[in-house]
Amino acid sequence: MKSIFVTGGAGFIGSHTCLLLLEKGFTLFLLDLFVTSSQKSLKRVSLILRKKGIDIKGKIYLVEGDIKNKYDIERVFKMSFELNKIIESVIHFAGLKSVAESVKNPGLYWENNVNGTINLLKVMEKYNCKNIVFSSSATVYKAKSNAPLFENDICEPVNPYGNTKLTIERLLKDIYNSDPSKWRIASLRYFNPVGAHESGLLGEDTLGKPNNIYPLITQVAIGKIKEIKIFGSDWPTIDGTGIRDYIHIMDLAEGHFSALNYLLKEKPQFLTLNLGTGIGTSVLELIRCFEKVNNVEIPYSFDNRRVGDNAFVMADNSLAKKILNWIPKRNIEDICRDGWNWQLKNPNGY
Ligand code: NAD
Ligand code: UD1
Repeated sequence: MKSIFVTGGAGFIGSHTCLLLLEKGFTLFLLDLFVTSSQKSLKRVSLILRKKGIDIKGKIYLVEGDIKNKYDIERVFKMSFELNKIIESVIHFAGLKSVAESVKNPGLYWENNVNGTINLLKVMEKYNCKNIVFSSSATVYKAKSNAPLFENDICEPVNPYGNTKLTIERLLKDIYNSDPSKWRIASLRYFNPVGAHESGLLGEDTLGKPNNIYPLITQVAIGKIKEIKIFGSDWPTIDGTGIRDYIHIMDLAEGHFSALNYLLKEKPQFLTLNLGTGIGTSVLELIRCFEKVNNVEIPYSFDNRRVGDNAFVMADNSLAKKILNWIPKRNIEDICRDGWNWQLKNPNGY
C-alpha cells in the first residue's frame, strides 16, 4: 500500500483521521508545526492502536515543520523516497481556523493558509504527486435562511478565515485545470465536526477557552466554565436558537478515507463535497440532549446574537453519500456520549 502525506496530522481532525488510516494499513508521513496541537495526540493514536493489537512500526513518520517553508515540505517527500515508501497522496489539514483571530490578524491567515498551500502544491508538482484531499469548510457558503446547502450554492464567506478557504478552493480548481488528466482533487466542506473517538483517549484539545459550542458544553459540564451564553433567542428557528449540522469526528474521518479511495480509483477530477449529516440541531436541543444522555446539568443564559452568525447552517450531503458510498453512522446522542467520555477522562486535555 502506498503512503499518504498528512499535513496538520496532530490536530483535532487530523489525529482522528490518522488513527483510522493507520487502522486501515496505510503508511503516513506527517508534517506539523504544533501551533494548535502537540505530539500528545499522536501518542494517544499509538496507544489506541497498541490496545487493539495493531503494530504501527515503520508506518508513521513525523516531521516537525511548517507548510510556509517549502524546504520542510520537501524534507517529507525526500524522506519518503529514501525509505522507498513513495507518497501517493496528500491530505491537507494544516491551517489556522479561528474566525475571531482571522478578523484581528488577516495577514497571518492568508500567509499560513494560502501561502502554505501554494508551497505544498508546488512541491507536490515537483515530486509528481497529484492527488490531494483538502479541508474546506461550510463557512465558504453564502448563508441561506432555512434550507440545506448544496455544493453548487453561492459561496460568499464573511470573514478572512472563510476567504482563505474559498481562495484555496479556487487555487485547487486552477491547478486541476492546468493538468486535468493527472490531478485528482477533493475539497471537503466540513460542517460542524464534534465529539471524540469512542475510546475517550482521543478528542478535541482546545488549548485555552474554546469558542465553539460543543467544547464549551463539555467544559461547562465538568465545571471549568460556569455557564453557556447562548447567542440569541430570537432566531427564526423552532426554539429561537441557532441550528447547525453537527457531525461526529469519526464519521468525518471515515469521509476522508472514502474520499481518498474514490479519488484513487476514479478518473482524475476536481471534486467538491459537503461532509455533514443533513440533520439540524439547535443550541437548546444540543444542550438538552447532552444533559439527558450524560445525566449532567448545563447551566445557560441568553446573550445577544454573535456578529457573523446565521440562524441555520445545514448540509445537503446527498452527493457525498451517493458517490463516496459513505454515510454518517453516529447520531447526536453518540456525539454527546463520546465527547463527555473524552472530557471526563481528560479534564485538562492531553
Ligand atoms: P486544529 O487546529 O486542531 O489542527 C490544525 C493542525 O494544523 C494543527 O496540528 C496545527 O499545528 C497544524 N498547522 C497549522 N498551521 C501549520 C503550518 N503552517 N505548518 C504545519 N502545521 C500547521 O484544527 P482542526 O479542527 O483539526 O482542523 C483541520 C482543518 O480543517 C483546518 O484546515 C481547518 O481550517 C479545517 N476545518 C475545521 C473545522 C472545525 O470545525 N474543526 C471546520 C471546517 C474546516
Ligand atoms: C463557527 C464559525 C465558522 C467555523 C466554525 C468551526 C462563526 C460565526 N462561525 O461556526 O466560521 O467554520 O465555527 O470553527 O464564528 N453558540 C452559542 N454560544 C457560544 C458559542 C456558540 O450560542 O458560546 C451558538 C452559535 O450562535 C451557533 C452554534 O452555537 O448557533 C454553533 O456555534 P459554533 O460552535 O461557534 O459553530 P459555527 O457558528 O457553526
